[in-house]
Amino acid sequence: RPEGGSGHDLTEHAVLVSTGGTREPLDPVRYLGNRSSGKQGLAVAEVAAARGARVTLVAANLELPVAPGIDVVPVETALELQAEMDARAADHDVVVMVAAVADFRPADYAASKIKKTHDPADPDAAPSITLVRNPDILAGLVSARGGAASPLLVGFAAETGDETGSVLELGRAKLARKGCDLLVVNEVGAGLTFGADDTTVHVLTRGRDDAVDIGPASKRAVSEGIWDAVVASLHPAGL
Ligand code: CTP
Ligand code: CA
Repeated sequence: RPEGGSGHDLTEHAVLVSTGGTREPLDPVRYLGNRSSGKQGLAVAEVAAARGARVTLVAANLELPVAPGIDVVPVETALELQAEMDARAADHDVVVMVAAVADFRPADYAASKIKKTHDPADPDAAPSITLVRNPDILAGLVSARGGAASPLLVGFAAETGDETGSVLELGRAKLARKGCDLLVVNEVGAGLTFGADDTTVHVLTRGRDDAVDIGPASKRAVSEGIWDAVVASLHPAGL
């Protein structure tokens, strides 16, 4: 199959993709959220469908139209996303976690709207929000899989690089920590913004020292390259 083309190399496969960004409610009208548009995960899902896969897209607050033929499961919070991924992963050959999952959620949910004056004794006081950790959904899928090879588990990580390491070094450490099979490291920062159309990624594979570099290119073109790398992992040369 020519690189970057759209052959039908996923026809035998069921693929589960998460996208969007979770929202963690504080009260009926407010939430903590993030800037993920869901475009990259949508492109990953749509390219898989174009290449013949049966695709389920678990979509956290996605506000974009989805190509027909893709089964969409809408969710809001990290806990809802976890429940859907946990229930569905074992029925799929490949799981790609593109969603931006909130690492924390408010410890308490107020059943009625939080009022500006929440303490009558101190009318000008501002409340504090206590956060608790959300579960690591991808790491949970790795443990639930046990020693089995299926589903192949693919993570995504947006990294800027910092004083503790380069984008690739941080990606390698995250791949080892998560225990997934592939990690798509997305270079962010320096004019590369959330919601932008062009992106650059490096695909890391557990047990391999090399990286597959893709882009800068459209999210659609980058998704073609990601599926090329996933297919290579599903069917290693010579097997
Ligand atoms: N992820 C997840 N559950 C979480 C957080 C992240 O499944 N609670 C998944 C994301 O969907 C992504 C991968 O883990 O596929 C990496 O997410 P990232 O936020 O980069 O990793 P973290 O372990 O949360 O590390 P960091 O401190 O860099 O945020
Ligand atoms: Ca995180």
